[in-house]
Amino acid sequence: MSRLVVVSNRVPVPDKAGNPPAGGLAVALHAALKERGGIWMGWSGKSTGEAEPGPLSIMNNGAIQYALTDLTDRDVAEYYNGFANRVLWPICHCRIDLAEYARREMAGYFRVNRLFADRLVPLLRPDDVIWVHDYHLIPLAEELRRRGVQNRIGFFLHIPWPPADVFFSVPVYESILRGLASYDVVGFQTDYDVDNFAACLRREGSGDRIGGGRFRAYGRSFIAADFPIGMETAEFAELAEDAAHDRRIREMARSMQGRDLLIGVDRLDYSKGIPERIAAYEAFLKGNPEFQDKVVYLQVTPKSRSEVPEYAAMQENVASLAGRLNGSLGSLDWVPMRYINRSLRRPLLAGLYRMAKVGLVTPLRDGMNLVAKEFVAAQDPANPGVLVLSRFAGAARELDSALLINPHDAEGTGRAIARALSMPLAERKERWEHMMKRLLSHDVTHWCADYLSHLEPQRPTLVPEPAP
Ligand code: G6P
Repeated sequence: MSRLVVVSNRVPVPDKAGNPPAGGLAVALHAALKERGGIWMGWSGKSTGEAEPGPLSIMNNGAIQYALTDLTDRDVAEYYNGFANRVLWPICHCRIDLAEYARREMAGYFRVNRLFADRLVPLLRPDDVIWVHDYHLIPLAEELRRRGVQNRIGFFLHIPWPPADVFFSVPVYESILRGLASYDVVGFQTDYDVDNFAACLRREGSGDRIGGGRFRAYGRSFIAADFPIGMETAEFAELAEDAAHDRRIREMARSMQGRDLLIGVDRLDYSKGIPERIAAYEAFLKGNPEFQDKVVYLQVTPKSRSEVPEYAAMQENVASLAGRLNGSLGSLDWVPMRYINRSLRRPLLAGLYRMAKVGLVTPLRDGMNLVAKEFVAAQDPANPGVLVLSRFAGAARELDSALLINPHDAEGTGRAIARALSMPLAERKERWEHMMKRLLSHDVTHWCADYLSHLEPQRPTLVPEPAP
């Protein structure tokens, strides 16, 4: 089996005891790396404060080597806070209104991708399989090909791919498309994303599907298909079951005083629809006064990308909406919404999901949304809660037994919340069992193996590749 080389912007470096950080993706990729041996390369998350990026720092952990690079302040500003998070992120989430195009930042994005390629080439062996993750690193394969790398290179986009008209608003859209065509396998979360990507190539006249999941564009042939990411379903379900013994979970249950819990867990990001969700909760409480004082909505929202102005503005907005809701509807001994602005550890989250009667996952647009899957996996099979899920999350393609809602429709979402809270046990069980079956058969290990089986060297491309 050939070695695996994973490249991503962030690298989940293990703790001193060698254990990878919690979370399905980190665990699954570490398992694959451990089995095959390999490298995980990416940004250290730090900046040098100097004019030049730091040297590559290499750490060995058994069969896995971590190769991390510091970036300069300018790199971080232009590549990460700039083009990746102020152009590609909003565009892929259909927020043209929030995209800030600056030539300097676009150039910085391509410069950092060149730096990654320069650093990676000396570490590569001819039969390594390379797997690049997410929108920060789209041009990496093209840069590697320019440097003579002929290995199989795959890409997986964790976020959505937008419709052609939205994507074409990026001034350098053609370089991005050509960058994707330099991979052997381009993975998306859903078939909708693949269709949007195909439409971009067709409209541009630069390529199209040639059948069997294959595309031909910019003189190359490659696979582009959906590989919906899974989670560590069985392990997370166990974590949730064990959490019943956790002191903090018992204290939380006591503090509810018999009220039902609704839960939302999201990074503080405009794509997550948190203000819209608060409006829907308000519409639910006003439209169903019999539920007032009978429910509590817990929103767990760690801060994210605070140096990007749109994110900083959101912090103020969500905090004031939560305060306003509690001020107008709360009473002496009832706080309708609890708002926590930091992350919680996975075992605690698993226990909270299991305690909740309703999971609120209502993004305006989301590649997959693993919170939706985690909520389902954490439920008590004998008395499962109900998932209220945005139809604009990739997860809705698989979890169609959830109550699917349109997050822009506050009243409709409010009605779904009321329905979820009143749903008979038999219906809750039936919906949950259907979703859980899917999550168990399509977990993150299955996802990883399925993707890699498409990337393996024994799967030749239909059309011979031109020499790089
Ligand atoms: C999304 C992206 C990831 C990213 C994560 C956290 O899930 O798909 O690539 O790592 O958000 O964002 P951050 O900017 O903190 O890495």
